[in-house]
Amino acid sequence: MKILVATDKPFAKVAVDGIRAEVEAAGYELALLEKYTEKQQLLDAVADADALIVRSDIVDAEVIKAAKKLKIVVRAGAGYDNIDLDAATKANVCVMNTPGQNSNAVAELVFGFLVYAVRNFYNGTSGTELKGKKLGIHAYGNVGRNVARIAKGFDMQLFAYDAYCPAEVIKNDGVTPLTSVEELYASCDMISIHIPATPETKKSINASLLGKLPKGAVIVNTARKEVINEEDLINFMTSRNDIKYVTDIMPDQHAVFSEKFPERYFSTPKKMGAQTAEANINAGIAAAKQIVAFFKTGDERFRVNK
Ligand code: 3PG
Repeated sequence: MKILVATDKPFAKVAVDGIRAEVEAAGYELALLEKYTEKQQLLDAVADADALIVRSDIVDAEVIKAAKKLKIVVRAGAGYDNIDLDAATKANVCVMNTPGQNSNAVAELVFGFLVYAVRNFYNGTSGTELKGKKLGIHAYGNVGRNVARIAKGFDMQLFAYDAYCPAEVIKNDGVTPLTSVEELYASCDMISIHIPATPETKKSINASLLGKLPKGAVIVNTARKEVINEEDLINFMTSRNDIKYVTDIMPDQHAVFSEKFPERYFSTPKKMGAQTAEANINAGIAAAKQIVAFFKTGDERFRVNK
């Protein structure tokens, strides 16, 4: 049984060692494809793999087709918009994620971004503090909850909107649940985005929503670039020179943002949210354990394609 770890953005070595230990303890073989530059390398590597562990790597119909022996793909992380679920289901391939395993890492980066933004990107001028400010958590999943936990240490006022999470759950965390996303954007000084990229959410952060933001608002995106309507955000930031945008997912129009808003826009060159040894270990080893449990006992607990 061959388990392939295919990561364009590699895990920390300590995490790979942990994955290897899990796989070998189960009597399976580990294959590693890191920092690949061509899709063909992935197509070749999956040809004889029984199981696949990926991060944001694209697993489309072509990859599934090339993986003749594949029975399971685990996305070591939360968002699985990089995997063609229909193609996997048709090929009888089980797809899982590892929910919650990297969410603290992403949530910590939100605060790195927030401090960076309110201190004017460390340009030497007087900024503001997070204390007492209203933070709007856009979706209250694993990352949103961790953001709320950390924000309490900064003494922020917390608000959240989540279309699926019951208001009681949000309230129990000491966070004020709001009943619409418009209300969230209208009432918060800072917005932290945690929605997945789905057909419903793509480009959903658009002109009408952005237009609700109060003066001096900061938008932090550690979710997905696809949820932003980039044209609308560029137009909005052009008309409102008080707005800042800090993102962990480089927009398609990064060059335009950089040129037009050099002091109000920042993007990491590569998604860094889950790039900690701890998150790599948590998500990577969880993925390996889920694969072993799937093969040994038929455990499909974290399956996302039905
Ligand atoms: C996730 O969905 O888990 C995060 O966006 C992290 O993605 P990454 O594993 O590609 O860093």
